[in-house]
Amino acid sequence: MKKNWLLLIAALVFALGYTVFENSPVDAAKPAKTVKATKVPVQAKTSCKTCHADFSSLIPQGHPPVKGNELSSCTACHQPGMPGMEKKNAFSTRIHMGHLPPKGKGDCLNCHQWSAGKNFGLPGMKESWGAPTKEDMDILKEIFNSWAASEYMDNLHAKASVSCANCHGKELPAPDATVENKKCLECHGPMDQLAKKTEPADFKDRNPHKSHLGDVACTVCHKAHGESKVYCLSCHQKFEMKIQGAGKPKQ
Ligand code: HEC
Ligand code: HEC
Ligand code: HEC
Ligand code: HEC
Ligand code: HEC
Ligand code: HEC
Ligand code: HEC
Repeated sequence: MKKNWLLLIAALVFALGYTVFENSPVDAAKPAKTVKATKVPVQAKTSCKTCHADFSSLIPQGHPPVKGNELSSCTACHQPGMPGMEKKNAFSTRIHMGHLPPKGKGDCLNCHQWSAGKNFGLPGMKESWGAPTKEDMDILKEIFNSWAASEYMDNLHAKASVSCANCHGKELPAPDATVENKKCLECHGPMDQLAKKTEPADFKDRNPHKSHLGDVACTVCHKAHGESKVYCLSCHQKFEMKIQGAGKPKQ
């Protein structure tokens, strides 16, 4: 019995240390405020009201009135669990963009529950979106930041309320995730219509979406979380072709 207690205390101390380590220096300087030692089993969570007295000034104009200042004040109507895969999710987008850099510090664990390698979800929710390890979480954070503020294609989608789940589906994307053409074409297709849109008036055959390359992966040219490049130009240096999400123009 005694041994079990000691183990439990050791686990708690470890979890606490880990949480403080995970937080930014500002949070770490005042851990007593965000981390309550006795009540937190695995990872600390702050609730919305730690930072927001109420939501009235934050919700969109014309939105139904909201009672309370907890996460459940929103999830009463906006049910989480990655619903509506090809529907845009303005709620998820606004919640995330509002707290990620440049607007906020973007600490996922202010709102989420995470146990490394075991689960990732929201407090009060049974469903887990996956089992990210520490390394997976580092990648996810990096990509969330890119999606919220980069010069790449992910940010073009964030601005249109297209969230991770709209491209990647229900599960948290793995470090080697990609997206099939079929998924992109659910929103941008059908292919011949897309090809028609990008047919140059002066040179019909210089069409990125209809060429002698045939059927290729969209990701050959369109990178979501990095610089997009026009693959045609690696052989046809003289073609004038530009692509969205290519990053900042080089000086
Ligand atoms: C660590 C502090 C912190 C916590 C915890 C926090 N927020 Fe925020 N939130 C902010 C800050 C800072 C902003 C930016 C405020 C601004 O733009 O005036 C913000 C902005 C928002 C916005 C506006 C987003 C937009 O589109 O402009 C909403 C909605 C919001 N928070 C909801 C929530 C909800 C719901 C929770 C709990 C699940 C929560 N916040 C937890 C600090 C926090
Ligand atoms: C009484 C039900 C209800 C509650 C509670 C609720 N919402 Fe909404 N919300 C709606 C409806 C209805 C819409 C419009 C349809 C939609 O986009 O889902 C909406 C839309 C939104 C949108 C998208 C607006 C846009 O740009 O399209 C945001 C952001 C949002 N709500 C934030 C919140 C936040 C933050 C909370 C919690 C503080 C919250 N809502 C609580 C019903 C609710
Ligand atoms: C202010 C609170 C808040 C912060 C901070 C936050 N999330 Fe969320 N997150 C939510 C809410 C609320 C949902 C449920 C949205 C829905 O789908 O209706 C959610 C949903 C998700 C989902 C499910 C897919 C989706 O887009 O809805 C993932 C994945 C996720 N968050 C990852 C992260 C990661 C990684 C971070 C840190 C970079 C983070 N979140 C920061 C509140 C937050
Ligand atoms: C859920 C629907 C959806 C999915 C899935 C989706 N997109 Fe988009 N995409 C949009 C929306 C909405 C925009 C914003 C501009 C618009 O309305 O066309 C956009 C913008 C773009 C743009 C920039 C267009 C411009 O004029 O700036 C490109 C390029 C693009 N998407 C390619 C892709 C590729 C490649 C995939 C698959 C990896 C994909 N999209 C998946 C909805 C989607
Ligand atoms: C060989 C490179 C290449 C491939 C492969 C490719 N694209 Fe593109 N895509 C481009 C270029 C270049 C543009 C910019 C063309 C323009 O604006 O006229 C573009 C533009 C777009 C746009 C914006 C169109 C608009 O309204 O201006 C969308 C959406 C898009 N691509 C989706 C896709 C999808 C979906 C796939 C896969 C089925 C795909 N692309 C495959 C090079 C490519
Ligand atoms: C427009 C569709 C789209 C959206 C939205 C999107 N992704 Fe991706 N994601 C892709 C594509 C396509 C790839 C394949 C690699 C690439 O082209 O950059 C990818 C790759 C990844 C990978 C593999 C690692 C890597 O860098 O290649 C992860 C992890 C990932 N995405 C996470 C996310 C998260 C988290 C979000 C939301 C913040 C998100 N994605 C939003 C299309 C998308
Ligand atoms: C791996 C190298 C390679 C790539 C990538 C490539 N091409 Fe070509 N392309 C060729 C070769 C080789 C020829 C035949 C020789 C020639 O006439 O230049 C050709 C011929 C052409 C021609 C007819 C000749 C001309 O210059 O008018 C067009 C048009 C063309 N390609 C368009 C494209 C487009 C659009 C893309 C991207 C979607 C693309 N090519 C990608 C190698 C490539």
